[in-house]
Amino acid sequence: MNKAENDSNQDEKANRRVSTSGDIEVATYLEIAKEMAGEQPTATGEAVGGEREAIVVIDFGSQYSLLITRRIRECQVYCEMVSHDTPWEKIASLKPKGFILSGGPASVYQPGAPLAPAYIYESHLPVLGICYGMQVITKQLGGQVTPGTKREYGHAVLHLSDVDSPLFAGLDDASPVWMSHADKIEEMPPGFRALAYTENSPVAVMGNDDGIFGIQFHPEVAHTPQGKAILRNFAYRICGCQGNWTIGNFIDESLASIKKQVGDGKVINALSGGVDSAVVATLIHRAVGDQLTCIYVNNGLLRREEVERTFDVFRENLGMNIIFVDATERFLDRLKGVVDPEVKRKVIGEEFIEVFEDEADKIGKVDFLAQGTLYPDVIESASSGSSASAKIKTHHNVGGLPAKMRLNLIEPLRYLFKDEVRQVGLELGMPEEMVWRQPFPGPGLAIRVIGEVTPQKLEILRSADFIVMNEIKKAKLYNQLWQTFAVLTDVKSVGVMGDYRTYGYLVAFRAVTSEDAMTADWARLPYDVLARISNRIVNEVPEVNRVVYDITSKPPSTIEWE
Ligand code: XMP
Repeated sequence: MNKAENDSNQDEKANRRVSTSGDIEVATYLEIAKEMAGEQPTATGEAVGGEREAIVVIDFGSQYSLLITRRIRECQVYCEMVSHDTPWEKIASLKPKGFILSGGPASVYQPGAPLAPAYIYESHLPVLGICYGMQVITKQLGGQVTPGTKREYGHAVLHLSDVDSPLFAGLDDASPVWMSHADKIEEMPPGFRALAYTENSPVAVMGNDDGIFGIQFHPEVAHTPQGKAILRNFAYRICGCQGNWTIGNFIDESLASIKKQVGDGKVINALSGGVDSAVVATLIHRAVGDQLTCIYVNNGLLRREEVERTFDVFRENLGMNIIFVDATERFLDRLKGVVDPEVKRKVIGEEFIEVFEDEADKIGKVDFLAQGTLYPDVIESASSGSSASAKIKTHHNVGGLPAKMRLNLIEPLRYLFKDEVRQVGLELGMPEEMVWRQPFPGPGLAIRVIGEVTPQKLEILRSADFIVMNEIKKAKLYNQLWQTFAVLTDVKSVGVMGDYRTYGYLVAFRAVTSEDAMTADWARLPYDVLARISNRIVNEVPEVNRVVYDITSKPPSTIEWE
């Protein structure tokens, strides 16, 4: 990876506010409260158990490392990513069947450049080094890497010289690959031979007879169309994996492990309406039934029909114990006169804890707090300390939960990616509408009403937002878009309606595509969809006389306007 690219990626990471939905937000409020009560949150119990095969990705800092992990899981092989300085004891329980050394921004000859721990080679397990990972193998096993004077970046064509290598089973003799490197292999370590080449890299793939391979390009990115087949070959043909990482297995193992962990204890879960907390609740409910109580707080900042729909699904369809709290007035009172977006977030977080405390007090003794933490958040907090929850924490300084709430965390989704969470939801029989719900921020519509939040402005925004959602769903675009929403700006402009001049609000409409909210692109929606949305808003929402479509990407903009 290019250094400038990496730096800007790091800057982007450091600057962004919060990359997740309301689930993490709500979960974090509770975590903060627990810390304030003098406890460090601890995850107890294993999310996944049983006999499982695994591949471990050793991370050297590439922006793509987590993507490698995901790709391996897509091949039905369990995979975790750990930092390059992780001791063997920490990963021994995974019983790895092979290692992948990721790419990274360093150069192996730089002072202090990270190298692979000795156990990688001493274990005699298969190893696949990708880009920087290949250079690490070359250096550590006695070959030579030369600092590149020219960077090779972008498409290249890979030609196989050893078509019989198991790494290449089923591959075309020539296929496009994505390169991003400067240093290159000058001399392979003893015992290695070149297995494939590109125009600029005579050693684009190398391997030895002990199952150690190096590849110069990135098989994990979409620009390498046969990359997944290479990773799959590595997992199945070289590491000997069978592919037992399936959602069905995950559910079975999780149910058993939740039952064991909870025993006859009581679990509490804050529902946000988002997919993560919903899947957590459903999974735990399936495991321990009525020992779970969910608290669902209406903060008055939700969208039209949202409260009713969420509530119906959980109580009516899934039959859970839910305490529903309508705290609209409390939240809106606290937000009076507040215009600064960060102050809005802080006020909402504080109020949430207070409402939660009041309700929790009524339940009596509780043993566990369930949270929808996902794998990317776990990784991020382990590697950079800049997790979503860390960011949210900086916004809030709040009181603690009642002393009697000495809760242990249950985080059954701690090892899952978002798409895996959705599959779990579907397999558990949750309604598609809930499973495919777009992320919605914890502070809700408060950060989509620019300036002071009032009940009247919220109603205007709800009406406009409802039309946006309705039209996007009708056009069958909802599932392709990361987020779609309306923003009520504090701009008023002149319009004309019939014989009258109007002076109404400007509503902005935003629709973005994204993989993870760290970057996003504005969606190229069909003109007729844009036209319908605009027409309906100005006709059906009397206070609005102008609609604009936001055509900025992130960066430099953020997804939300506040
Ligand atoms: P931005 O606006 O920073 O948003 O590009 C990235 C993602 O995070 C969501 N978001 C939030 N989620 N609390 C949340 O729970 C917040 O304060 C918050 N701010 C933004 C946003 O909707 C998008 O998905």
